[in-house]
Amino acid sequence: MSAASAASDLFVSLTGAAAAGAWSAPGRVNLIGEHTDYNDGFVFPFATPHRTHVALGEREDGRIRVVSTFDVEPVEVALADLDALFPARRDEIVEWARYPLGVAWALLQATGTDPASVTGVDLAFASDVPVGAGLSSSAAIEGATASALNDTWGLELDRVALAQAGRRAENEAVGAPTGIMDQMASMLGRADAGIFLDCRSLDAVVTDLGFAAAGLELLVMDTRVKHSHATGGYGERRAACERGAELMGVPALRDLSVDDLARAAELMDDVTFRRVKHVVTENQRVLDAVRTLREQGPRAIGGLLDASHTSMRDDFEISVPELDLAVETARAAGAIGARMTGGGFGGAAIALVERDAVTEVSVAVENAFDEAGYSAPHLFTVAPSAGAGRD
Ligand code: GLA
Repeated sequence: MSAASAASDLFVSLTGAAAAGAWSAPGRVNLIGEHTDYNDGFVFPFATPHRTHVALGEREDGRIRVVSTFDVEPVEVALADLDALFPARRDEIVEWARYPLGVAWALLQATGTDPASVTGVDLAFASDVPVGAGLSSSAAIEGATASALNDTWGLELDRVALAQAGRRAENEAVGAPTGIMDQMASMLGRADAGIFLDCRSLDAVVTDLGFAAAGLELLVMDTRVKHSHATGGYGERRAACERGAELMGVPALRDLSVDDLARAAELMDDVTFRRVKHVVTENQRVLDAVRTLREQGPRAIGGLLDASHTSMRDDFEISVPELDLAVETARAAGAIGARMTGGGFGGAAIALVERDAVTEVSVAVENAFDEAGYSAPHLFTVAPSAGAGRD
């Protein structure tokens, strides 16, 4: 069954009636630009064909109820109580439900809307975005919720404001200190295009990727090593970046260029320096990738993808052996370029591959995982797809 039908069926079993409407939002794959978003830098993600679907119906009692195929126990609160729950008492809400309830809270906050002035809602979710694979299932549930509530409540927020509400939900209602990349990709995605985003100004240029026309495929290699950004490593990396910017006397690492690295090396300890070096060089790689793509076409960005992975493995230290193996094997089997994607510590790597080499690369990666004694990876191609909206 499709995720869209699963969401509407779940809605019927929750309420006994048909939903008033259905919305959906995609996950994202980041082509290049990792851990640059919260440093006010550049990213270049695209939206996946995998989406989270939500079926919505209104209710008269000012309450919001959410249910998902992942956890059929509904969670229900009064809209008027959201303000007391987030962020202070978020632990009272089961983790997955903090995403949609957090978005409802952030939307009301952003618009200064009195909860008593909007209708209560029932929301039923189903998704085909793999969870924990680094494809941002979180941005997908946030984007679907934000679109559905924006339309239902007549808030008239634009896509950037909806992305910002999603990010606020993730930061404050869930407690994951992430940037804005995933939500912007989920909101702004377009078929066969990447979102070249300046995370300081939030100016986005939807840029043709031309993979299909060039006979290329983007292969996702989900290692099935689970990660979470609400714990540990992600927050530590973010803190190191903030420390580095402070030592350099700039508001954010975005304000440094590769030429500043020699001075940075003198001012900070080795670990902080390598974190800074990754971000500064990665920002440059995003700019180079966008320019190279425009001037020379998609085959020419392979070296930048490879360099991005090396930087994350050696300087930012967020890769894991499974990701390194996927990347190295894909390259050895003929991929044009490969890198881990997303926050790291698990999740997925991507490889840009000639269409007629997809099978060869996939078999090589499967065999390498088998030989290394790792669980079988989940391999699939993704075509850059449309962003969030009403279905
Ligand atoms: C996660 C976060 C993003 C971004 C990436 C790393 O996906 O949600 O905001 O920081 O990690 O590039």
